[in-house]
Amino acid sequence: MEKVRIGVLGAYRGTSMINYCEASSKAKVVAICDKWLDAIEAQKKNLNDDSITYYDNFEDFIEHDMDAVILANYANEHAPFAIRCLNKGLNVFSEVLPCQTMKEAVELIETVEKTGKVYAYGENYCYMLAPYEMKKLYQEGKIGEFEYGEGEYIHNCENIWTSLTYGDENHWRNNKYSTFYCTHSLGPIIHITGLRPISVTGFEGTMNKRRLNVGDKGGSFGIEMVLLENGGIIKSIHGGLYKNSVWYSVYGSKGRMETAREDAKAGEVSKIYVNADEYAGEYGEEHLESYEPKGYADNLDKYFGHGGSDYYCMDQFVKKILGENDADIIDVYEAMDMFLPGMFAYRSILNGGIPMDIPNLRDKAVREKFRNDTMCTDPNVAGDKLIPTFSKGTPSIPKSVYEAQKKEMEKGLENDIYFKEATTQGKINKESE
Ligand SMILES: NC(=O)c1ccc[n+]([C@@H]2O[C@H](COP(=O)([O-])OP(=O)(O)OC[C@H]3O[C@@H](n4cnc5c(N)ncnc54)[C@H](O)[C@@H]3O)[C@@H](O)[C@H]2O)c1
Repeated sequence: MEKVRIGVLGAYRGTSMINYCEASSKAKVVAICDKWLDAIEAQKKNLNDDSITYYDNFEDFIEHDMDAVILANYANEHAPFAIRCLNKGLNVFSEVLPCQTMKEAVELIETVEKTGKVYAYGENYCYMLAPYEMKKLYQEGKIGEFEYGEGEYIHNCENIWTSLTYGDENHWRNNKYSTFYCTHSLGPIIHITGLRPISVTGFEGTMNKRRLNVGDKGGSFGIEMVLLENGGIIKSIHGGLYKNSVWYSVYGSKGRMETAREDAKAGEVSKIYVNADEYAGEYGEEHLESYEPKGYADNLDKYFGHGGSDYYCMDQFVKKILGENDADIIDVYEAMDMFLPGMFAYRSILNGGIPMDIPNLRDKAVREKFRNDTMCTDPNVAGDKLIPTFSKGTPSIPKSVYEAQKKEMEKGLENDIYFKEATTQGKINKESE
């Protein structure tokens, strides 16, 4: 295979993966699908490439002759589409999150096992320069055995909420519970250590005016306190607190390391601080190493979103399909290690804050207990296992909030800040160097 032929479902966030293909010599976009026709038209104009076929529905799109599909559709609907694609013989790159119920988790894992196709979970934050360097150092044994770590993904999306949810009161972002979107904070620590989470206790942020005013029905932030298989502990925090912050810290038996934090720009976790000389106790400057890890080849990361990780994450998927053994993808089991702590943290919250075991779905016997578990906040999927978006009950938000947002969106995509940012990120303009 000379170039991997890629189809993209979801023309909004999907722009990032389209841009990867434009920049890479290893992949090519052959089809783009979105039911939102404005987004299709905007992509046509943006890409100006007659070799790409556009679809407004998944049923026709999946019949296109291609090698792999990027799922950048709604975050709570990835699993059913992934299962359809894998069964069709297609490799799958799934945006966050991998699934929304345990039933889907079991089905997804079994479909990956049955088909043998590549499934890569697109947790791009693992591939930001500093956390990726932390993974390398940890795997080299530089700080010894993992004892404690923190992951922080604070994103106050208040000012872009209309762009993100376009006045759809049932949009997944409005219906998600506080600990659902957990993998940007937890994922990198799991990827750094390679350890499996075994239990979790969840905490839920307040239901406050900032969230209600934009139409969000979940708690403002979520915390997972996670116990790992080696006895190590992770604190993972994510959501809409006052000021954006992306930060990771790991303590081991003979050292510690962390990424830049204070006022670091969201998505640009570029610097790393390491104490790894087995000196314990009071630390002077002489024991601290701090540097910016080397960027990717051709400075490609400079042009891509989330500190360049959008490029690298896709690149590993494409390499894996092309048979490169050292490709570092996040497989379906690791995807669940990153996501199930958030799912079970909410079950912990709903049960008064008791710790919950995190099932190990690698074990076939464990799967049986969860095969029919549809518990979630999506009324289309939950059946009789529908849970509230907030522990004290789903709040009722006046229709007028969503109506005002719909009106704002009528101004058109060309005025949409989120879309504009997505289409310009990753565009390589060597002349401007
Ligand atoms: N990793 C990151 O840094 C990052 C950043 C932003 C978004 N995301 C993820 O990207 C995904 C998409 O998010 P988004 O921000 O673009 O917003 P979104 O979820 O509102 O957009 C999904 C897009 O898919 C289309 N779509 C959904 N179902 C479809 C179907 N059945 N057929 C055709 N089109 C369909 C929608 O019309 C929409 O344009 C989500 O999973 C989100 O979590 C990830």
